[in-house]
Amino acid sequence: MRLSEPVGIASLGLKIPSFFLDLKDFAHLRNTDPNKYEIGLGCREMALCLDQHTVVDLALGAARRALMRRKGGLDQIGFLAIGTESGLDMSAPLTKWVARELRLSGALRSYEVKHACLGGTLALRQAYEWRCSPASKGKAALVIAVDDTLYEARSPGEPTQGAGAVAMIVDEPLIAEMDPCSHSWSRPADDFWRPVGEPYPHVDGPLSLECYNQGALACFQAYCEDTNQTLGNFLENIKGMSFHTPFPKMVQKALGVLCEKAEITAGNPNKAKELFLEKVAPHLTWNQKIGNSMTASLWFSVAQNLCGRRIGEQISAFSYGSGCGAELQLLTAGPEAQAAAWAQDLQEDFSQRTRLSAQDYDSFRTRNQAVKSGFPAAELLQNKRGFRHAS
Ligand code: COA
Repeated sequence: MRLSEPVGIASLGLKIPSFFLDLKDFAHLRNTDPNKYEIGLGCREMALCLDQHTVVDLALGAARRALMRRKGGLDQIGFLAIGTESGLDMSAPLTKWVARELRLSGALRSYEVKHACLGGTLALRQAYEWRCSPASKGKAALVIAVDDTLYEARSPGEPTQGAGAVAMIVDEPLIAEMDPCSHSWSRPADDFWRPVGEPYPHVDGPLSLECYNQGALACFQAYCEDTNQTLGNFLENIKGMSFHTPFPKMVQKALGVLCEKAEITAGNPNKAKELFLEKVAPHLTWNQKIGNSMTASLWFSVAQNLCGRRIGEQISAFSYGSGCGAELQLLTAGPEAQAAAWAQDLQEDFSQRTRLSAQDYDSFRTRNQAVKSGFPAAELLQNKRGFRHAS
């Protein structure tokens, strides 16, 4: 289906925290072979917010960068949605803090979307549907995917931590045109969850891998059926593929499942690896330096995937959120993809951030554990930033 007026990503802004931990240092701290993280999981570094940064800082940083490169003032934004699982309040949306700092108010729909790592994608699809409807009155939408991922210290998920934010303005498809149809899949599952009041998530790693693969297969097959092509042809022809990336090995395994189903490994057992190296791995190097930024992780890969693309080149974006749900959409590069202005911001962030020592990380975790078990996050944030509750 084509719309009379194409809609998509008009501007992109990325933001990561100012600190990171090299997983070799982390392996030393946890007395583990570093190859487990680098080869076994495909991870290299994790971005960390530490005490003085919050998801609000990340979301604001990304939003300001996306807004800066866009023509039109704040009064042209009619929709603000944040996808996150690092919310600060059970009732108030994270957009409250972000809109206050941006001075964004008035004729605006502003809310938070939660569905584990799928929240950013759901917010983006809702923004797209709103922008295509008469309700938008021609205004643009601002969507932010942001998370600060910490697992309990010494738990199996700890090496897959990370943090970051991706902001997208949905309007003219200057960077990428979004397909009107996306392909969703869902099933109830207890693969990853964080009960109310608990500081860290619980994860059933093997079940999350199983659900992720199941979701990927269902979504890619649905797309191929709708577009009347075989999965094998799709995999051969698509220019680049981005996936939600809890850790890169998970993505590689999912692609292996797709290749097996498409029966393209029969004559060449290395085919899945070749496809991964050609179409997926080049767009995962930012994720390897950031770690799992949950809702934002797919969109960091998409942002890298779009860099330098010629107009009309098509890429796929597969999103997964525990609980569980998945969604696949196709994006077509627009005229501003080639110059990739957003990439420079991120390269600057990478070059300016501080590498933590294992000891610094260990003492941060000790402080964080004590704080998280003693205070609600929103109270902590408000005290730290000196915010006042608006009446
Ligand atoms: N050298 C190379 N590879 C090594 C290794 C070494 N010294 N030691 C272990 N490995 C490999 C293992 O063989 C395994 O690879 P495989 O899965 O291809 O067989 C991989 O490293 C992980 O090892 P494993 O023993 O399974 O690790 P673990 O029990 O510590 O848990 C996860 C790993 C991924 C399950 C855990 O990190 C986790 O739960 N992460 C969070 C997952 C998540 O985010 N899910 C929710 C969102 S979708």
